[in-house]
Amino acid sequence: MLKIAPSILSADFCNLERDIGRVSAADWLHVDVMDGAFVPNLTIGVPVVASIRKHTGMFLDVHLMIDKPVRYIDQFCQAGADLLSVHLEADHPARIADALRAMEANGVKKAVALRPITSAKAVLPYLERLDMVLVMTVEPGFGGQKFMESQLDTIREVRALIDKYNPACELEVDGGIGPGTAEQVIEAGANVLVAGSAVYGAEDPAKAIELLRTAR
Ligand code: DX5
Ligand code: ZN
Repeated sequence: MLKIAPSILSADFCNLERDIGRVSAADWLHVDVMDGAFVPNLTIGVPVVASIRKHTGMFLDVHLMIDKPVRYIDQFCQAGADLLSVHLEADHPARIADALRAMEANGVKKAVALRPITSAKAVLPYLERLDMVLVMTVEPGFGGQKFMESQLDTIREVRALIDKYNPACELEVDGGIGPGTAEQVIEAGANVLVAGSAVYGAEDPAKAIELLRTAR
């Protein structure tokens, strides 16, 4: 099933409750956590996720763009995340496996994320126990960037691996997704679309969500 996950990175942080309300027709809420080290930008941390949890029943899809994410898994789970994505480039494989185990122990859904430079087969050691793979379609760090068409091949490759080894696993794409690119990523095999500027930059975010839903 196709899911739309608006990214609150493009929301007005002074009016976050209002802006979350504006996307209530979506399936998930995408929360971008950045540490100023794994990526050059700094955004949201644990207390903000805890506050969001108090104000919405939406499924919280928390994208950790942080170094050594295993250090913070318990905290983000306790704050109320429903799913956590950790980047494969953010730590050694054994520590990524530790992070996934910590998510499992907390009963939270588990995902790994791939920067554009990382090849699809990097998911293989983890794939059978994952709930989702996140393929970045921009270099992580900022909203409003241009979609990287070269990532369509990675999406197709990850889709093939998922179909072979773990068909229930979701495939999320993130970065530059809008009415012009949604159709391409769906065709390549994505089923969860993150969209920041395409939703919050629109006059009517609910309409923008509907437009993405019917992209195919
Ligand atoms: C970028 C973030 C994205 C970002 C997407 O590093 O992971 O979630 O908010 O923004 P748009 O949809 O504007 O590219
Ligand atoms: Zn994201």
